[in-house]
Amino acid sequence: MKPKTFSVKQGGSNKPKGHVDFKSAFYFQTPIWIAEAPMFLKNTIKVTDKYIKKAEKNLKDKLKNEPKWKKDIGTFGLSYHSESFSNDPKVKDLVQFIGQRSYEFLDWQGFKTQDHSLHFTEFWVQEFSEKGGGHHSTHQHWNQHVSGFYFLKCSEKTSYPIFHEPRPGAEMTKLPLKNQEQITLGTNQVHYKPQPGTMIIFPGYVPHEFAVDAGLDPFRFIHWNIKVVETAISKERSNKNELQKK
Ligand SMILES: [Fe+2]
Repeated sequence: MKPKTFSVKQGGSNKPKGHVDFKSAFYFQTPIWIAEAPMFLKNTIKVTDKYIKKAEKNLKDKLKNEPKWKKDIGTFGLSYHSESFSNDPKVKDLVQFIGQRSYEFLDWQGFKTQDHSLHFTEFWVQEFSEKGGGHHSTHQHWNQHVSGFYFLKCSEKTSYPIFHEPRPGAEMTKLPLKNQEQITLGTNQVHYKPQPGTMIIFPGYVPHEFAVDAGLDPFRFIHWNIKVVETAISKERSNKNELQKK
């Protein structure tokens, strides 16, 4: 998806005397990495089945204690949300892959990653209710640096991620767009339609949301957040943990 610019002749159709053409520079761009990673798909669906089953049971048990009107709504609008499982040895290869790509993502942007280490603050799987209405409203995750998604089950009928303009000043002063369908330099949100196996890595500061799901096809994805910490601090923390254990 290359941003389009509308062709406007600088200086109007008749270039006045003394006209100069400006070159275009693109500063403060927002990188989003998108790849197809089908090699982890089969195993990850199998491993996450048990997490989804457990989350579904927890949610349905919780509903039993709710007032009748909530029971009547049931799981509509909700999702089966797992515990964090980045430590599960069965997803070791996937977790390692994500960790490495995230490190490269930061390094490639010019950040000094030496003497820093990456930590998963969240790594969970979620499946939207088969009753429909599953969604995430626009949010960013607190105090972390790299976020990402790995899509396990989705189709053209399911929910999909929406990324929002991350520069508050730009977002506040946007003008109406000529064409909402086109991705241009003025775009304030991007709707990305994934397929099973699509992996997206993006800066932690990018607000994102998930469109309301119709409940027609299963929609399951993993979402993670990574925090970068000075290695000296991580070491200090693990020393402290060791001391507490003794
Ligand atoms: Fe999120």
